[in-house]
Amino acid sequence: MKSLHIFCIMALSVDLVRSSVQICQDTNEESFTIACGSPGKDGLPGRDGNVGPKGDKGDQGPRGITGQSGPQGPPGVPGERGPQGPPGPKGDTGDSGASALEALKAQVNANEQELRSLKTALEAQKKALFLNSRSSGEKIYISKDVEVTYREAVQICSRAGGQLASPQNNAENDAVLAISLEKKKRPFLGINDIQLEGSFRYPNGQAIGYSNWYPREPNDDYGVEDCVEMYDTGKWNDKNCEEKRLVICEFL
Ligand code: GAL
Ligand code: CA
Ligand code: CA
Repeated sequence: MKSLHIFCIMALSVDLVRSSVQICQDTNEESFTIACGSPGKDGLPGRDGNVGPKGDKGDQGPRGITGQSGPQGPPGVPGERGPQGPPGPKGDTGDSGASALEALKAQVNANEQELRSLKTALEAQKKALFLNSRSSGEKIYISKDVEVTYREAVQICSRAGGQLASPQNNAENDAVLAISLEKKKRPFLGINDIQLEGSFRYPNGQAIGYSNWYPREPNDDYGVEDCVEMYDTGKWNDKNCEEKRLVICEFL
């Protein structure tokens, strides 16, 4: 038996070179035996083995040299037109050209009517402005036909974007007087000495550069006259600010 084994090992060493020896597993024994004899035919290929474990990550390779970008190529040839899509849904029935024209005519008529009423309103405004205002140089004086205290008068003119009339020459004084005579009421001027007794100033705090005092005025009667009213002669009198006088505003 031993000699057979030796013989077989010898035969194996020879046959390995020829790759024709067959290695079989004996199912009863755990060892491998080598069947010696004439080589059989090749068997069917075995099943693929299991996937082996993943290998280690390799080292990073050297960085490549960045190449220069070449010139831009010519534009490509346009693609072929795709197949035509299905027809869309039917649209709404359109107005006839005639009805659109009628609508346009109606709009033009409405516009013309609105323009006429605006012109009428503008004429009325101009008339009212002409009757209620006087201008002198760059200033326009407009009266709000009410009599209020000085403080209220200041507020009314300020809210309107102007200030209480403060004539700075005879022409301006005459423009204010004309409105006063028209309204048959004495106005308050913006001029006052509220801040400092005897120092009359314009609403902006600047000392007055023009005055038209009535004789022996201003007298600060009873020590309470810090506002200025205009007589129907155009002359000025200092008066208690709590009195009520006509509002005449000036606008630049
Ligand atoms: C009053 C006037 C006062 C003072 C006085 C002089 O009519 O309101 O401000 O001027 O006359 O008598
Ligand atoms: Ca005074
Ligand atoms: Ca006075």
